[in-house]
Parts: sequence; C-alpha cells; structure tokens
Amino acid sequence: MTLVAGIDSSTQSCKVVIRDAETGKLVRQGRAAHPDGTEVHPDAWWAALQQAIDEAGGLDDVAAASVAGQQHGMVVLDENGEVVRPALLWNDTRSAGAAADLISELGGGDKWADAVGIVPVASFTLTKLRWLARNEPDNAARVAAVCLPHDWLTWKLSGSTDIGTIKTDRSDASGTLYWSAKTNEYRHDLLELGFGRVIGVPEVLGPTGVAGHLPNGAPLGPGAGDNAAAAFGTGAGTGDVIVSIGTSGTVFVSSDVSPNDPTGTVAGFADTTGRFLPIVVTLNAARVLDAATKLLGVDHARLSELALGAPAGADGLVLIPYLEGERTPNRPDATGAIHGLTLKTSDPAHLARAAVEGMLCALADGLDALVANGATANRIVLVGGGARSEAVRRIAPELFGLPVLVPPPGEYVADGAARQAAWVASGGQEPPVWSAAQPETYEAQPVPLIREQYAAARDAVIDRPR
Ligand code: XUL
Repeated sequence: MTLVAGIDSSTQSCKVVIRDAETGKLVRQGRAAHPDGTEVHPDAWWAALQQAIDEAGGLDDVAAASVAGQQHGMVVLDENGEVVRPALLWNDTRSAGAAADLISELGGGDKWADAVGIVPVASFTLTKLRWLARNEPDNAARVAAVCLPHDWLTWKLSGSTDIGTIKTDRSDASGTLYWSAKTNEYRHDLLELGFGRVIGVPEVLGPTGVAGHLPNGAPLGPGAGDNAAAAFGTGAGTGDVIVSIGTSGTVFVSSDVSPNDPTGTVAGFADTTGRFLPIVVTLNAARVLDAATKLLGVDHARLSELALGAPAGADGLVLIPYLEGERTPNRPDATGAIHGLTLKTSDPAHLARAAVEGMLCALADGLDALVANGATANRIVLVGGGARSEAVRRIAPELFGLPVLVPPPGEYVADGAARQAAWVASGGQEPPVWSAAQPETYEAQPVPLIREQYAAARDAVIDRPR
C-alpha cells in the first residue's frame, strides 16, 4: 500500500491524516492544539505539527505529504530565515485602518479587484505588512521575506533554512493582495505600495509542483489554503457550494471563472487544481455557537435541542453575530447585538434559535453574493465543526433555500492535502478519485421571514471604540 500524508494547520489545531494513496482509506491520524489568540509564534505551529505527526505514527513510510493551513497569516523572516515577530493571523483586525488606506491609495476597491481579484480587508497579508511597516519599524527593517503559515511549515519540513527556497501554491498566494490568480503573477508594485519596499516572496507552484522533500526523500506537495483544500477534500462538483462553519465561516465553489467583485464581498481566490475559488468569508461562525452555550450555561447538544424547540424566526428575536467584529460585511469594529426582546422571546429556546439563525443568515448572505457573481448553486455541502449541530443542519435549508448535504464529520482540509499529496506521488495528469462517504441530506421549506428580519436588524450594531 502506498501511503500519503495530509496536514491541516488550522487556527485552533494541527491535524495529520495518513491515507492510502489509491483508495483514500484512512490509515492513521494525529492532532495537537494550537495556542489561542490572533498573534502566534510559528514555532508553536511547528511544535504542534511534530506532536500530531508523532501521534499519527510518523512520516517515515509516506510517499508524499502536503500541508494545508489557515490562510493569510503574516510570517516574516530575516535574511537568516529566523522569524522576526509572531505571525499576525487572518482574524487579527488591527490592520483594518491599513486596509482602508490601501484601498484609497490605489484609487478604490475596483482597482484592487482588477489587479488581484480581491479588495483589502484586515485579513489579507499585505495589510498586515503595512501595519508592521507603520507600527514596528525596527522589526520591519529586519524583514527579508514574507510567507504564509502553510508555506513556512512546508519549508520547515523540507529542512531548508534558505529563504530563497520557500514555496507556496496558487490558492494561498491568491489571498495576499500581491499575487493575482487571474494572471498567475506577483504584483511586486503592490507589495512595495503596502510595505514600502520589495521583499522576498515564495515561488508559486502549480497543482502538483514539488516544494521540497521529507528526510525519507518523499516529495512535499505545494500545499494549499484551508478552504481550497476543503473543496478538494470533499470532492465537491459543479453546483455544489461548500459552506464551512469553523473558526471562520466560508461559502465557496470551485469555478472556471474568477469573480471581479469591486465591493470585495466575493474574493477571487484560486483553487488547488489550476482553477478559481470564489469565496465569501465571515469572522463569526462556530464560535457564535460556543458563545451561545456560554450565555445559556448549556452544552452544544442542549443548545441544539433548545434551538429546535423555538419556532422558525424565533418570534422576531434576531442575533447579529459580529462578536469578533466582521469582515463580510467589512465591519472590523462592530459588536454583536440582540434585537426583538419581548417577554415572549426572553427564554433560552428563543435565544438559542436566534444564535443559530443569525450565524447562518450571515452565511446565506454570502451565498447570495456568490450567486450574484455568477456561481451556480444547486446544493449546499455543509462541513466544519458547526455542522455537527443538529439544529444547524435542520435550520440551514430554511435559510439557504437549497438541499443541504452533510458529509460525515471528518478532517476535509487535511484530506484535501492528502489527496494533493497522492496526486503528486502518482505523477498523473488528473488527481486520484477517492470514494466519498455518503452524506446525509437535509431539506426544508424556505422561511424568507428569517432572512428579512435579519436584514432589517443587521446594520443597527454598535462599533467598539478603537
Ligand atoms: C479565508 C480565511 C479563513 C482562514 C481560516 O479567507 O481568512 O477561512 O483561512 O483558516
């Protein structure tokens, strides 16, 4: 049996799966936690990766490995390859002002959409570089190269310390603001605009490019951003819109066409196969459910029961889930809100239902934006930790107005990385086809009222003072 390894270095943890390259059968796996926070030293990811690899029985017997990971995080290195400062992650909003400045300096969101397919928000790497240049000039002066979390881990696995050998892939490069998925080229001029000077950037590999080798000689694949890896791992086809409810909420499709959305709502990322990955990303997803369990003093199973015990629309109780500020819509300083409290709605069931509906409404807005930008939507494929909630599964079709398919719980990002590794190992033109586990299908009558009352309340949230 030929084995391959797939790695998902996500915001909260690191997962390693070892699969049979031919069938995709899971053979071994491991995981380890990451520290909390939106600023993390990459050494913590490396330590977690080592732990997860050990738990998965090591990589000595794999024929290839690929690393997928949280996107956009700014990993800055000096000329010796040392990390200059802890990475600022995708969900760190301190560069919101830098994002606004970059939009106006280039002459508007449409200019960015034309140039690189995405419009600056605090998540994207270049805004973090701008923040660094303005706020930590001493650190900025030491920076010789920038890369992303998955690039850095792949490079570490290769054993290289030469910053000139760091590689990335199209999917993650497309979330930096200085590489265009449409032209497959770096925009060094935009890197200079943001950071003040040009620095080293990783070579961008194609779908089966080799980024280095493990100590046993096995090739390392190009890796991927986590969303692109999830699309590849679920094997989603045309018309399948993936909705992932993890630390971030994401709504995306694999597509032949790159969107061009000057509002920035739909980002024009690349996928892992040489095509595109139009995507809408929210900052508030599974942790909205976590917050609701805390508010109500219950566990997730009880939260779900409570939510399903209240009527659709929660009798007008609406929870706006901007608990971490928000990225789509671009409201980095917004806070969450609860509207529609009455004596009738002041109970745990209504609040539970409002939390599930609010989180899902933000994602349903994302689906509308994807469709408005040309995506075909026939079915929703629901993945991520939040998809384990029965209430989420049953309420989702009421809001999306489409059948919702829920594959068995799994590590779809790590699986996508493993499938990429199998593709690299095979040397074939097409990726291996792995048999997918049967999803459960959830259908329901759409309830437009839920989205209408959410839309009416959505903008009446208060910003935190900066
Ligand atoms: C995508 C994004 C998030 C992170 C989460 O643009 O910021 O989905 O990739 O890991």
